[in-house]
Amino acid sequence: MAPEIRDATHRDLARIVEIERLAFQTPWSLSSFQRELTLPFSRLTVAIGPRSELSEISGFLCRWIVSDECHVLNIAVHPDFRRSGIGASLLCTTISEARTKGASVVTLEVRRTNLPARCLYRKYKFEERRLRRNYYGPGEDAIVMELRFD
Ligand SMILES: CC(C)(COP(=O)(O)OP(=O)(O)OC[C@H]1O[C@@H](n2cnc3c(N)ncnc32)[C@H](O)[C@@H]1OP(=O)(O)O)[C@@H](O)C(=O)NCCC(=O)NCCS
Repeated sequence: MAPEIRDATHRDLARIVEIERLAFQTPWSLSSFQRELTLPFSRLTVAIGPRSELSEISGFLCRWIVSDECHVLNIAVHPDFRRSGIGASLLCTTISEARTKGASVVTLEVRRTNLPARCLYRKYKFEERRLRRNYYGPGEDAIVMELRFD
């Protein structure tokens, strides 16, 4: 069953930070997420579920829409709920929203070594466009990926 996706509120931030810390070596701080909630061009969404009886937040996505570009800044799913379609639901909701709002492209950066995320983006037709060497630190390259709407 697809998870419910809704906008995050301040009350969700403790759980979002918990998931963030489990997902990344250099996690965003609470204040980074608080700031996103104040930016008019930013949207932070959460996934609830995957099962309807579980009202817990299982993942989140943060994106900006600026001009004709939607940029995905952050996406993570709690380790207990991975491989059950949560990341795909968050990403697909963002792609649909970007298309509806008239964006021509969805962009993101992904660590070259992050194969689960690269597979997720490729599954939804993102193309690997450029390499940004040492973007995440020495020897930690980023791949810029794009999904263009025709
Ligand atoms: C990347 C991430 C968000 C994926 O979330 P998820 O809910 O587990 O992904 P889904 O179950 O929706 O998977 C959708 C598709 O992504 C790909 N995928 C996801 N995890 C994968 C893995 N471990 N290995 C290979 N492919 C994977 C598959 O194509 C999958 O489709 P399939 O199940 O039909 O094979 C999750 O692994 C995560 O939170 N990672 C840590 C944070 C992170 O790296 N974020 C991305 C930063 S750029």
